[in-house]
Amino acid sequence: MATEPAAAAASAAALEYLSGFANEFATEALPGALPVGRNSPQRAPYGLYAEQLSGTAFTAPRHSNRRAWLYRIRPAAMHQPFAPATCGHRWLSWGHGIGDTPTSPNQMRWSALPMPPAMQATDFVDGMVTMGGNAGCGIHLYAANRSMDRRFFYNADGELLIVPQLGRLEIATEMGLLLVEPQEIAVIPRGLRFQVRLPDGAARGYVCENYGALLRLPDLGVIGSNGLANPRDFLTPVAAYEDREGSFELVARFQGRMWSAAIGHSPLDVVAWHGNYAPYKYDLRRFNTIGSISYDHPDPSIFLVLQAPSDTPGVDTLDFVIFPPRWLVAENTFRPPWFHRNFASEFMGLVHGVYDAKAEGFEPGGCSLHNCMSGHGPDADTFGKASAADTSKAHRVADTMAFMFETPTVIQPTRFAQESAQLQADYYRCWQGLQKNFNPAQR
Ligand SMILES: [Fe+2]
Repeated sequence: MATEPAAAAASAAALEYLSGFANEFATEALPGALPVGRNSPQRAPYGLYAEQLSGTAFTAPRHSNRRAWLYRIRPAAMHQPFAPATCGHRWLSWGHGIGDTPTSPNQMRWSALPMPPAMQATDFVDGMVTMGGNAGCGIHLYAANRSMDRRFFYNADGELLIVPQLGRLEIATEMGLLLVEPQEIAVIPRGLRFQVRLPDGAARGYVCENYGALLRLPDLGVIGSNGLANPRDFLTPVAAYEDREGSFELVARFQGRMWSAAIGHSPLDVVAWHGNYAPYKYDLRRFNTIGSISYDHPDPSIFLVLQAPSDTPGVDTLDFVIFPPRWLVAENTFRPPWFHRNFASEFMGLVHGVYDAKAEGFEPGGCSLHNCMSGHGPDADTFGKASAADTSKAHRVADTMAFMFETPTVIQPTRFAQESAQLQADYYRCWQGLQKNFNPAQR
């Protein structure tokens, strides 16, 4: 199909989704665009090019093997050479900016990242800063006020778990369109090209760059066949393409650095695709929360949404955990998270509302880091209230959506994070008001 250079054609980019987790999906924006019976026929329908995008080792076992076949207007190889780019210069990674300053065992907390000033046009890629990371993941925040327009992006270093906190994201990918709002998440596979548009004009949120095994739903063990995040609530876009020529930029994140190449067409030109390697979104409000109905606050693993398993059974390189609205009904027990020191390192964020273990200071858009074996837990106010609470009555934690990126290795904060104006230097004080209640004469 010939296209005038200035003209842009696109399939009807309806917000339609396919339901399920890592299903063998098949979708086409033009009828008959998907070849039947073979992945790479001698001539694909409509003059399209066939291209495979593989997300795992070729020989990975079938249950974990992920790939997709894309039928596109031009193959992904067509672009000018990449050169080092200055965009996204605050987007660091393991080996490049993380670990260049000593990591202290201090508890750390940050206020929300300020929005960029209106006169300073900042898109999703430029608006990214790195808070920390380790060999398993990079943790970033974004604050943006401009849609990506003539720029497209892909990340060869890992898949991206995006947690919007403010403003919707319209994520136009090679494989279709995801509209994601706060309290939803999106996962963009390693290598997939996309563009982030801001329908609300501004956006802020969190990103976890997963270098490990692809995020997957956890096994449920004794929970049984239902519960936590249900597979059918994961939504993958239908195929949608644009046939658009002009001067565009393709930005790649590769080996922790940013690279830029000129490209003469939109890479979002996939007319049909099939496979099980695809972007998806999930509404955290659909999480089937399970907790204690007798006594004791369970470990946070009961709130696990997605995990990146390591080679050690039961140990993940990354866990994505949420603390959604729920009822607290356990009796004669301390209902909020108890005081603890963990093997795991915990980076927390708050998408919405109030977090039940802190009276104040942990605000939507803010974040905290409690590394391996650093003591933490409820602040003095929360401890006082929870110790005196009437646990014969159910209590609803109604207005909240907090989350945690949890890892088995220490999360090293970047110099940016440690020197940030948002770092709350007085965070440690929230535990200083805890009284000594010990009295050996009174049990
Ligand atoms: Fe914790």
